[in-house]
Amino acid sequence: MNNIGFQDPDRLVSPKAVDEEEEQDLSLRPKYLKDYIGQEKLKENLSIYLKAAKMRGEPMDHLLFYGPPGLGKTTLAGVIANEMGVNMRTTSGPAIEKPGDLAALLTNLQEDDVLFIDEIHRLPRQTEEVLYSAMEDYVLDIVIGKGPSAQTIRMELPKFTLIGATTRAGALSAPLRDRFGVVLKLEPYSHEELAKIISRSAGILGVHCTEDGALALAKCSRGTPRVANRLLKRARDFAQVRGNGIIDEEIANDALHRMDIDYLGLDSLDRNFMRTIINLYGGGPVGIETLAATIGEESVTLEDVCEPYLMQLGFVSRTPKGRIVTDLAYRHLSIKNPKLDDSIYQQSFDEYKE
Ligand code: ADE
Repeated sequence: MNNIGFQDPDRLVSPKAVDEEEEQDLSLRPKYLKDYIGQEKLKENLSIYLKAAKMRGEPMDHLLFYGPPGLGKTTLAGVIANEMGVNMRTTSGPAIEKPGDLAALLTNLQEDDVLFIDEIHRLPRQTEEVLYSAMEDYVLDIVIGKGPSAQTIRMELPKFTLIGATTRAGALSAPLRDRFGVVLKLEPYSHEELAKIISRSAGILGVHCTEDGALALAKCSRGTPRVANRLLKRARDFAQVRGNGIIDEEIANDALHRMDIDYLGLDSLDRNFMRTIINLYGGGPVGIETLAATIGEESVTLEDVCEPYLMQLGFVSRTPKGRIVTDLAYRHLSIKNPKLDDSIYQQSFDEYKE
């Protein structure tokens, strides 16, 4: 699959996948719903839709997954294909440049196959329109020629299930969104769920990871299995070289410390992001492009990788005038917030430490 967007290869807590990781992760990905940890409500509904489709002997309705990167949208699409006993074809919005690219994909599908389109909100508009009739009636309308002599040829397609994934449901056009029969949101995982995922992955990788070790890594995984699996692999390196090969709490915490990841899973880019707003822009508001230029990062990286988690923690807010940091961010960075008077500051700092 194409690597979409910018990925800093040094960033351990980025929820975006790097190319080689996509392949390695295949072995860690659960294949069936029973092995999939977390997303309980979503799984419950999904298992009903799957059963019903199987009982009717039809493909599943088209399905849209949305939510931040790294939460398992691709994994779930693979689970659905496996549960239905069909093949999955994988592509991404930016990889389909012309309507012809999509036509080639659709005409090569076999009956009941799953077509997975990642980053579906990045499909070019002209291409997107080809999808409408394909999704609704399993037909492809191809326009041949231009002007008055243009002709439309209609091609029958095999029945298929389209699974779209997007980090930005709002960026999807209404006509496309409305053609999905099922729209499901993925939520960040709890520490306990991530610890279970880490223990499962450790078993597959053949590394001994204690429950405490798994929990220590889970707490720094930003609610994201992809980050959890990445931290597990790096902790395994530390355990092998500096310890006895076992990932216990001490080795896990030592590895996290050496990787400059703090107890909330923030790395130096996250802290730099907040410090820049505080030190150079008085806590904000500041526009994302200005911030990106100051830090020397791409704005999409800040928007897609840093901000979702910092906003989830309540450290950063998006306002119409730009980004602002909240008092929680000041406290996390142990910087005095000049907007709070001394007595309030001392009181809130004491509360935070507790
Ligand atoms: N690996 C990545 N995501 C997973 C999940 N949700 N459950 C089990 N293993 C996983």
